[in-house]
Formats: sequence, C-alpha cells, structure tokens
Amino acid sequence: MTVENTNSMMLKACLFDLDGVIVDTARYHFVAWREIAEELGFVFTEEDNEKLKGVSRIRSLEILLEIGGISLDDESKTLLAQKKNSLYLQYVLKMRPDEVLPGAREFLTDCRNNNLGIGLGSASKNATTILNLLQITHLFDAIIDGNKVTKAKPDPEVFLTGARELGVLPQNCVVFEDAKAGIEAAIAANMFSVGIGDPVILGKANFVTSGLKNLSVKTLIAKLERQSNRNAPA
Ligand code: BG6
Ligand code: MG
Repeated sequence: MTVENTNSMMLKACLFDLDGVIVDTARYHFVAWREIAEELGFVFTEEDNEKLKGVSRIRSLEILLEIGGISLDDESKTLLAQKKNSLYLQYVLKMRPDEVLPGAREFLTDCRNNNLGIGLGSASKNATTILNLLQITHLFDAIIDGNKVTKAKPDPEVFLTGARELGVLPQNCVVFEDAKAGIEAAIAANMFSVGIGDPVILGKANFVTSGLKNLSVKTLIAKLERQSNRNAPA
C-alpha cells in the first residue's frame, strides 16, 4: 500500500538524515570540531559549523582548516580526523535510547504503520553504532551511511542509493534533513524535502519544521499537497 495525495505525488518512502534529525549528535560534532580548532589556535563558531553539517568527516576537516587559514599534509589531516572522531565518540558512546529526538520514534512508527519504506541517508560512518545505541535499527528498511557512499551531500548519491535499496522511484520519496547540503542533495535527487530547523538556512526545502514531533504521515501528506503545485520535482 502507498499513500497518495490528491495532486501528483504518491508517497512511498521517507529517507531520514541522522545527525540533527533523528538524534542531536549535530551538537556533539560541533563540540568535537571546536576542540580541534582550539588546539589549532582559532575560534570555531556555531555559524561556521553550519558549513560542516551533512558533510563527510574529511571534508569537514578541510572546511575547518580553510576557516582557520591552516594548510596541512594528508597524514596530519588523517590524524586530526581520527582525533576528532575519538572526541566525538566520547559523547556518542554514552547515548541512551531516550536521546532519540522528540517525535522521531513515533514518526518512524507512523511511517511503518502506513507501509512507507523507511531509509537512513547519512554521511556518518558512525550511523549504525548510533542507531544500535538508540535501539531503533529495526525501524529502518535500508541504511545508507558514510561507509556505503563516496560522494558527499549535496551530491544525491546517498538518497538515490536509498531509493534504489527500497525499490521506489526518487519522485515518490521525501527526505528529512537539517543541513543545507542535504536539502540540496534531495533536490538534486528529484525528491521532496522537509527541512528540520531554521527556515532561513533550509529555505529550499518544500517546507521547514522545528522537528519530527510536529508531524504525522497525515499532516506530511497534507503539507506536501499544499506545496506540490509550487515546488514539485519535474
Ligand atoms: C553527518 C554530519 O551526518 O555526518 C556531519 O552532519 C559529519 O557533521 C558527517 O561530519 C560524518 O560523520 P562521522 O560520524 O562519519 O564523522
Ligand atoms: Mg544532519
């Protein structure tokens, strides 16, 4: 069974980013990168951090170094990326199932009850560790993470791979993202998108909401219905 709205869109699957959508690990990434920047002798702000959201670990480091005006050889970069990951994992490994963001577990369950395919589309190589700690791995039909794809968002690879694994067409998918690069990836994949966070940053999404707690499959369909005349993929 699929869920059809009265305009053109037939919703068959939802693809979720992880960090900042399902769980607030975006905060832990920021704190770990800030510590690396401090060590390198410059200040790394929350505004700078927006540029790192949705971006792979090594690309994040390169952006961080550009912000600090620092150039390093590949070996030093690898070591710093490993150090950042160790700092990050110190926070992550303490996570408990109740750290799933408000409404996320309920929304995933609602998708399941409506027979929608559920995919994860994350740049993180720690995604399966996090899903296991949160005890929500079983809610996903396909898990596409930083170990499975090579091209970082805004490239659509992660979401197109997700649609393929779920056996649905891109135009029947909705992506949930907290990163500008992630919304751009969804658009490049010819998918609908829901921004989770600041409408100023995520303005290209079909609509923006502060979190999954504000949504049900029914309200999602209604909102997409309202938006589909304006922003529907070709
Ligand atoms: C994304 C985050 O989900 O994963 C980025 O938004 C992060 O900030 C990227 O850099 C890679 O994560 P990890 O866990 O592989 O370092
Ligand atoms: Mg994210």
